Amino acid sequence: MSKNIIVTGGAGYIGSHTVVKLVESGFNPIIIDNFSNSSPEIISRIELICKKKIKTYNLNCSDQKKISENINWNEIDGIIHFAAYKSVSESFKKKEEYFLNNIESTNILLRISEKYNINNFVFSSSCTVYGNPTTLPVTEKTELKKPSSPYGETKKICEELIQCSAIKNFTILRYFNPIGAHESALIGEHPSNIPNNLVPLICECAIGKREKLTIYGNDYSTKDGTCIRDYIHVCDVAQAHVHALQNMIKKTKTKQIFNIGLSKGFSVLELIKLFEKNNNIKIDYEFGKRREGDVEKIYADCNLAKKELNWAPEKTIRIALIDAWNWEKEKKNLRQIIL
Ligand code: UFG
Repeated sequence: MSKNIIVTGGAGYIGSHTVVKLVESGFNPIIIDNFSNSSPEIISRIELICKKKIKTYNLNCSDQKKISENINWNEIDGIIHFAAYKSVSESFKKKEEYFLNNIESTNILLRISEKYNINNFVFSSSCTVYGNPTTLPVTEKTELKKPSSPYGETKKICEELIQCSAIKNFTILRYFNPIGAHESALIGEHPSNIPNNLVPLICECAIGKREKLTIYGNDYSTKDGTCIRDYIHVCDVAQAHVHALQNMIKKTKTKQIFNIGLSKGFSVLELIKLFEKNNNIKIDYEFGKRREGDVEKIYADCNLAKKELNWAPEKTIRIALIDAWNWEKEKKNLRQIIL
């Protein structure tokens, strides 16, 4: 019988792609999402891709009473916890809210896991826990520095909470920079507010929603002065969750942390050029000031995930940028689908 997997934040960017991968791999995902930064329409689109109804609870994971009462936790085999506030810049302005929401929800889910003996817990962490690293690429053994934002601090604290919990199996996935969208262009990144991340903003310039992209800083000590990141296709990130679950189900005691990236560093300028070349569109940009909370350069060593999870990225940056653009063009139809 297929395993029931709770996916908190399952309507969100990485969550929605993971739900699709779970269905494709024979799991039965059950979504908890309060649509605070996503659209309920995404659920219909996931169902369209999967040709299957996905049980969805419109609940806030920080509401212990409601999530305890509404879900039959005795039937749950695993939890993938994505639901969190995720804007680096916003986290400076709303520090308390970020701490309360991100840490409280993780805590509640851990207590539920312990109570109902749910032993397969996957946590959505971020390379932000490495802070501004001094050696590259970063491995899971690289020293954790102080994260450069309150958002990053919440991820670091959640990792510690998980490591201190009594659950037998957990996997912490530290994503680098997920980009792109599902190849069908039916799902992709769809924040309720103004996007903060580079690729959605490039896409908004390409489609004419904004005139120019501001590159945050060109005086970093990198090849062209702009920051370096490890961009990875969101479907490859989603697939890592499936491998993590399969690995935990196979073993009796697994407590592991993995980097999930493409293991290649691209500068902001290089990414813009690649977008222009592969989608045949010109992007207007200007250089602005450095952005608070940005690290200069970071990219991953993902050999551990290859070895232990048998996971490796399958899609190139080129495909990710084409998929991102196809999704941007398709997004305007988001409210028009009929199942
Ligand atoms: N950038 C610009 N202009 C923009 C937006 C971004 O120049 O308008 C630059 C940033 O300065 C950075 C790069 O593009 O150098 C990538 O920025 P993103 O906002 O896309 O991604 P971040 O690397 O800042 O953030 C990501 C995740 C976070 C995670 C963080 C850890 O979104 O969840 O990596 O470094 F915490």
